[in-house]
Amino acid sequence: MPIDVQALESSFAREVIGLRLWEPLDDRTIDQLRELWAHHPVLVFRRQALSERELADFSALFGPLERVVRTEWASPVVPEVGFISNLKDGQAKPIGGLGDGELQWHSDQSYMMNPATGAVLYAVELPPEGGRTSWVDLSAAYAALPDRLKQAVEDRHAIFSYVKRLAGYQGVDRVISDEAKQRTPPVLHPLVHTHPVTGRKALYLDSTTTIGIEEMDAASGSALLDEIYDFSTQPEFVYRHDWQVGDVVMWDNGLTMHRREPFDPAGRRLMKRTTIFLARERHIVPDGCVAAMEAMS
Ligand code: SIN
Repeated sequence: MPIDVQALESSFAREVIGLRLWEPLDDRTIDQLRELWAHHPVLVFRRQALSERELADFSALFGPLERVVRTEWASPVVPEVGFISNLKDGQAKPIGGLGDGELQWHSDQSYMMNPATGAVLYAVELPPEGGRTSWVDLSAAYAALPDRLKQAVEDRHAIFSYVKRLAGYQGVDRVISDEAKQRTPPVLHPLVHTHPVTGRKALYLDSTTTIGIEEMDAASGSALLDEIYDFSTQPEFVYRHDWQVGDVVMWDNGLTMHRREPFDPAGRRLMKRTTIFLARERHIVPDGCVAAMEAMS
């Protein structure tokens, strides 16, 4: 039987209804979900009740799981699961990362040479208000770009830096291990990719890591990036998700950026997430290379 899928608020996001993700899914359903995700970069499943193992097993249906550079955010039980949370343990040490502040438009892992572009976020505990997450559809944004901007980004590579991302974090999240520093030099990625299934072009962006455009002077690169970010984050390209406990949202970072609204630090928010190396046959997978220092002048 085909899976039951509905558009969410006339947006590009889709809700998949009736699946119990803690149970093994049959091959046909798995194929349908893979096909659906290739066409719709944000999928929502409500009313789930998952152990960390079940969350990891479901995520692994779509590709190998990544253990992200922030090992201190990893679950002690299933290390492929990370905690996004403002909660602290008995010694007042954060149990996960990203606190309670606003997260600007970004794409997970854009600072990696070979980003693992799939993400699954599961809501375990939520504050009474705030903390809403939004996604922007970067293939719709590309399609609507004026020709002048399409030409300006064609064949261009942006420089993505984790140092810039860290500067936007709160408190201890700004500090990374030497190993994490070594794994995250500034990298180049093309600004435009073509999707292997739909053939549609999409922008690849991250306002929290891009520091310029290769072979453009700093002022021109930054002006072009500002223009592209302003254009591509217009409300008509955005889906805003009001979280409920038990929601699972999976998204493709090769086709979207997301942002999170801040919430009251006194509120409790616990999200569990996985990161997936998605298959090149079904998803955009940016191929990066380390940025030469001259590219950053
Ligand atoms: C993230 O950017 O990965 C976290 C989003 C959220 O906390 O809603």
